[in-house]
Amino acid sequence: MSATDWWQRGIIYHVYPRSFQDSNADGVGDLGGIRRRLDYLGWLGIDALWISPIYPSPMADFGYDVSDYCDIDPLFGTLAEFDALVTAVKARGLKLVLDLVPNHTSDRHPWFVESRTSRHNSKRNWYIWRDPGPGGGAPNNWLSNFGGSAWEFDPATGQYYYHAFLKEQPDLNWRNREVRDAIYDVMRFWLERGVDGFRVDVIWHLMKDAWFRDNPPNPSYQQGRPEIERLLQLHSADQPEVHGVIAEMRRLIERYPGRVLIGEIYLPLDRLVKYYGEDLSGAHLPFNFQLIQAGWNTRTLASMIREYEAALPKGGWPNWVLGNHDQHRVATRIGPQQARVAAMLLLTLRGTPTLYYGDEIGMEDVPIPTASARDPWQLREPGLSVGRDPQRTPMQWDDSANAGFTTGIPWLPLSSNYAKCNVEKLAASEGSILRLYRHLIDLRHRFPALSTGGFRLLTEGGDILAYERFDENECFEVYLNLSREVQRLDEKVSSRAPREKRTLMLSTHGRGESDFHAPVRSLEGGEGVIYKMRR
Ligand code: NOJ
Repeated sequence: MSATDWWQRGIIYHVYPRSFQDSNADGVGDLGGIRRRLDYLGWLGIDALWISPIYPSPMADFGYDVSDYCDIDPLFGTLAEFDALVTAVKARGLKLVLDLVPNHTSDRHPWFVESRTSRHNSKRNWYIWRDPGPGGGAPNNWLSNFGGSAWEFDPATGQYYYHAFLKEQPDLNWRNREVRDAIYDVMRFWLERGVDGFRVDVIWHLMKDAWFRDNPPNPSYQQGRPEIERLLQLHSADQPEVHGVIAEMRRLIERYPGRVLIGEIYLPLDRLVKYYGEDLSGAHLPFNFQLIQAGWNTRTLASMIREYEAALPKGGWPNWVLGNHDQHRVATRIGPQQARVAAMLLLTLRGTPTLYYGDEIGMEDVPIPTASARDPWQLREPGLSVGRDPQRTPMQWDDSANAGFTTGIPWLPLSSNYAKCNVEKLAASEGSILRLYRHLIDLRHRFPALSTGGFRLLTEGGDILAYERFDENECFEVYLNLSREVQRLDEKVSSRAPREKRTLMLSTHGRGESDFHAPVRSLEGGEGVIYKMRR
């Protein structure tokens, strides 16, 4: 591994394909739409696109229920259109990362259709079938992530099958060598077609306890929280054997130079970093979701960054994720003002940044009327605010009908603010969040100190989060005011450089030319600045 692999230097942009751009007026985004918008992504400056699943699927979980791993759902296009997308992506020097969903298939996948035909079918052991528990009922107490038991009884054969998510998403049995080989064939299929890597869905779920022991109750469970939180997922996920499987995937990926293996993992830090694998034999990038989960204040963010940096194995490359299709949007979580600070933080931290489509224009969660709810989790556990539709609404391109997303009826309602909050308008507006993102991305590319350079915290508390990024050529200081109030700068931080030596490179608040050499003494509420040190 060289120190400058693209997935270390680069910025990943997450496209939720249903909502990015429709090209055939059916109200759902598609591959042709993504291709049409590559100019925009080039203008923005990102390096790689990760696309949520586009494979044939009954869409019970919007593509995370795959019924054929080696084709494209007609809703999104065809294999030929996929190839055209790969070609267009490469022509722009971008990378394309696909979502791989190996933990479960759709219940309509031919493997499962076969598996459920009889206890003696050759595919029976491709899934997780168990006899009823003693006295009848489910084999153990494991819960589905979307509520209810994780076991579904199949009357035809008198056994239960396991599903960590919907009953329409039966889990594959990763203890079975045939299953592993079948999924590795799938990986090869897409790698040969030119994809630059995979984001592996729920990778920490692949292995389950060999004895199917009950999960213990969660002593911190609070009423009103999703049912899955009633139990600690001690035996149903994150089993030690999973690392052997991931090492196999990594070995396969390594045969294709320059490809990346990204793992989706929601675990506490000490368990998350194990997914780099022994001697870095695991995922290149175990997704780090701490920016999504952490409290938005200096003390929390500073200790989180310090602990993460300290926990990384030697040679393990950091990464930071600001949003995704499962989480409330950043502008909703911390407010529109702090969303700018968050952009500056994401794009100046050490490690690969992943940003979620629409966050660059400050899109917020869109309230979805009950009658329009589509997310299966929302439908199964209404009233708990678990619904993921609000963060999946169509991209807002311009102020024409349906924000330029579709000429049909959009599959989810659009935000009512799209006339103001859209790419066209914000791209033309000096000082917009979109221009800020573009500027930050440009700086990160121009100065390797900001992407692959070193990192040093300059604060531990107070309202301003401050840190230094440096390499042998350059040194930058970043100051982020996480409060709503004006904060004086210099009393708060232990900068190594005298004020006169700093040049202001960028402010979230678009300070004018005159500020660039005069030292800034205080930051507006929610303002962030980047200084370059003069030698
Ligand atoms: C994680 C995906 O991000 C989420 O959208 C999906 O529902 C589950 N995995 C199940 O595949």
